[in-house]
Amino acid sequence: MTTIAVIGAAWGDEGKGKIVDTLAAGHKTVVRFAGGPNAGHTIYANGKKVILHLVPSSVTCPGTLNVVGPGVLCEPVILMEEINIAKTHGSTVLLDPAAHIITPWDVQLDKLREIASGSGALGTTGRGIGPCTESRTARYGIRLSDLTLHTGDLRKALLARHYAHERMAIIKSYGATPMTIDDMVIWCASFRSLTQHLCDTRAVVHKALNDGENVMFEGAQGVMLDLYLGTYPFVTSTNPTIGGIATTMGVNKVDRVIGVTKAYDTRVGNGPFPTEIGDEVADKIGKVGAEVGSTTGRPRRIGWLDLVALKYAIRMTGITELVLTKLDVLTGIDPIFVAMDYMLDDKAVDRYATLTTDIMSRSKPSLQGLEGWTSAICGYRKFSELPINAQRYVRFIEDNLKTPITMIGVGPERDAIIMR
Ligand code: IMP
Repeated sequence: MTTIAVIGAAWGDEGKGKIVDTLAAGHKTVVRFAGGPNAGHTIYANGKKVILHLVPSSVTCPGTLNVVGPGVLCEPVILMEEINIAKTHGSTVLLDPAAHIITPWDVQLDKLREIASGSGALGTTGRGIGPCTESRTARYGIRLSDLTLHTGDLRKALLARHYAHERMAIIKSYGATPMTIDDMVIWCASFRSLTQHLCDTRAVVHKALNDGENVMFEGAQGVMLDLYLGTYPFVTSTNPTIGGIATTMGVNKVDRVIGVTKAYDTRVGNGPFPTEIGDEVADKIGKVGAEVGSTTGRPRRIGWLDLVALKYAIRMTGITELVLTKLDVLTGIDPIFVAMDYMLDDKAVDRYATLTTDIMSRSKPSLQGLEGWTSAICGYRKFSELPINAQRYVRFIEDNLKTPITMIGVGPERDAIIMR
């Protein structure tokens, strides 16, 4: 039995979906444990691009059990769509009754706050993540289990502990009109068919582990967007990396923690990004790498690979191996820079244990240039086939992070991966 976690080692969008999809063959049970429809995990099934937001990226692998755990924030329309994708591919989706539902109130409030914040906006995905987690923490949110209630009881659940009244009052304070309670009852009731997928997902996962099966956990976003570990307040509102597995699924031992990072960095939304590149090199990488948010369609900010942030991510989450995705995108870039340190007031700052938003905003990265390569690498499947400078780039990262790179992405297709 092996437990594997595939987590984002940076600011999200590292290509976790493709890695989960690739590893799914050896795992019957795959668990999405955090985040919500803010995530957009892209995979290619039978040559067709599929973007998933809520269910695990193994869903197009026939026979897999795809668990949506209690920590996932569920948008019911998207959930229904993705369950249909599972059906067409002969896989199963199991939903935890304790997972919270993102309501239209949450989405509306998220958007209103961002508009009202002006230049202080966080740059959220507008999917209602913050407001939904607030109701979860306030202990009055609506959960998938509430969909089993008859209309009268559903209304009571919405009214309990002033949930509906508080939500509506906050929305009205922005001068907007919230959905009425009657309409919200009808909206919730329209998703009753989801209840046929409800089951105690923790029991399923723990039984699988007891029976000696391999189980894989799929993270969302990345370490630098984690509510506690990331660049607060420019973070998401869940714990989408390793900690979320223990707190939501009760699984406290993970054998392989696979941290996924691109061969360069990207960030969407606002907040510090020390290695951000502001010139035509960024345009080139963004264009070749198709760096546009898969959930929001926003262009992603582009930066050099940040080894300071990666060291921090490895330290904070116990990453045992790394996957480097999109190495092919750097073909033709010369030199390729990598951040080795941060400089604050002309002194290198030691960021072994903590990276604060303040430090990241005020520091300048100390960059080292490495020689690039010019020939296309998309067709290679062996490390030894890569141009020598591409091999050197990979080894340089490994040596500095003291962590092996076990897979290298060289193109968007399902099989465009070098296994080492
Ligand atoms: P929220 O999660 O929508 O509240 O957004 C908070 C911050 O996290 C914003 O900067 C978003 O752009 C960022 N974010 C959320 N989900 C993702 C993701 O899946 N990939 C990249 N950035 C994300």
